[in-house]
Amino acid sequence: MNRLIMRAVAVVLCAGACAGAGDDIGREPGEPLRDLTEVELGRFLLGKAVFERLTTAEEGLGPLYNEKRCSSCHDHPASGGSSTKLVTKATRFEGGVCDLLVNQGGDNIQQVATPLLVAHGILREVIPASATDSARVIGPPLFGSGLVETIADETILALEDPDDADGNGISGRVGRTADGRVGRFSRKSDVATVFDFIETALRFELGLTTPMNPMEETVNGVALPPDVDPMSDPEIDERGMGILTDFVRFLAPPAREYLFPAAADSVADGERLFEEVRCASCHVPSLSSGPNEVAALAGQTVHLYSDLLIHDMGPALGDVCGPNAEPSEYQTARLWGLRHRERFLHDGRATNVRDAILTHDGEGAGARDAFAALTPDEQQLLLRFLASL
Ligand code: HEC
Ligand code: HEC
Repeated sequence: MNRLIMRAVAVVLCAGACAGAGDDIGREPGEPLRDLTEVELGRFLLGKAVFERLTTAEEGLGPLYNEKRCSSCHDHPASGGSSTKLVTKATRFEGGVCDLLVNQGGDNIQQVATPLLVAHGILREVIPASATDSARVIGPPLFGSGLVETIADETILALEDPDDADGNGISGRVGRTADGRVGRFSRKSDVATVFDFIETALRFELGLTTPMNPMEETVNGVALPPDVDPMSDPEIDERGMGILTDFVRFLAPPAREYLFPAAADSVADGERLFEEVRCASCHVPSLSSGPNEVAALAGQTVHLYSDLLIHDMGPALGDVCGPNAEPSEYQTARLWGLRHRERFLHDGRATNVRDAILTHDGEGAGARDAFAALTPDEQQLLLRFLASL
């Protein structure tokens, strides 16, 4: 049987039995949401071209940057995906307060300089001596970001349990932006919208100034030499930012896959175990998106497998802090599309799913131990379920 037919059979067998199969709005990685209007689809395609375009120094790249295009770090297995490329971050955490080291060039330590800057002997930024910790973070997949953005604040707030009132050892709390809004994006959950995240990605990853921040970044806090940035600021306008944002917002969530029809039953058993050992307390299978002017985003069931809250994952996983998150607090990773990833956890330290589970600590220790206590067959079923995501 060819693969396509097998998938069709699997979906039929799964209808009703496997969550997310019947009503799935998922598509192959990199595809746009179903049911976009023609105008929206046009913006998606234009935005994709910007996302994949190599930025030149004449267009404003740098003088300090990490990569020349977005897709360098978001291309596996398609544009908008993840990657194993690493971004270096450093922060200072003292007396419960997080310092993003803005006066020393910010928490993103840029690794590359344009030739004009290299001519001054500056090759990259360094981790400031005052940093208390650093991390090398991998780019997460962006599929389904528009749906994540459309989930109402109240839906996320309702999942919060900061004082562990239900006594299950899990006390997630909402991540906040520096100005107090409910966060959804970034591993520290400190960014509220796709647009806001992209505004910082443009500046820190590509070195492009924006209408919101038209000043070039410094080199570890020291102003740039005068002749290294011939471009006038801002280096990208709101229209360019808008189509880039729509590409990311309109990326469809990844579809489920059942490798062969007979696996449907074991996938369902694995999902039951996933709930039994309390993975689902944090990796909440689905949330509903709220109203939105884009019909394809409004009122959908979003099978993200995350509560979008931040949790204390223990000191071994801890490193940098966020504006409102401690070093060991990380947003529950969304498990949709897990089978497409090559590395796991925020710094990619796990090369397989089992190691990622066994590295859970802090609020995740109970679920980790419950997983470890399952029989080998049961563990296999749970992993088979995860491999269908
Ligand atoms: C050098 C690698 C790199 C480049 C280039 C890059 N990113 Fe990222 N991206 C990352 C990393 C690492 C994160 C996670 C950062 C964090 O959580 O602190 C991320 C996170 C994101 C997120 C938030 C995802 C989420 O759900 O939390 C969005 C959106 C995003 N990037 C879009 C872009 C866009 C658009 C561009 C181009 C302007 C871009 N990125 C360029 C590495 C990169
Ligand atoms: C207390 C909340 C919590 C519980 C319970 C929990 N997780 Fe997680 N999980 C997280 C957080 C937070 C991360 C991200 C950690 C990081 O990025 O370093 C994560 C990451 C993961 C990842 C890596 C995903 C990726 O792409 O990096 C997998 C796989 C995973 N969890 C599976 C499970 C399984 C299976 C269980 C049950 C045995 C479980 N988790 C229980 C919070 C939790």
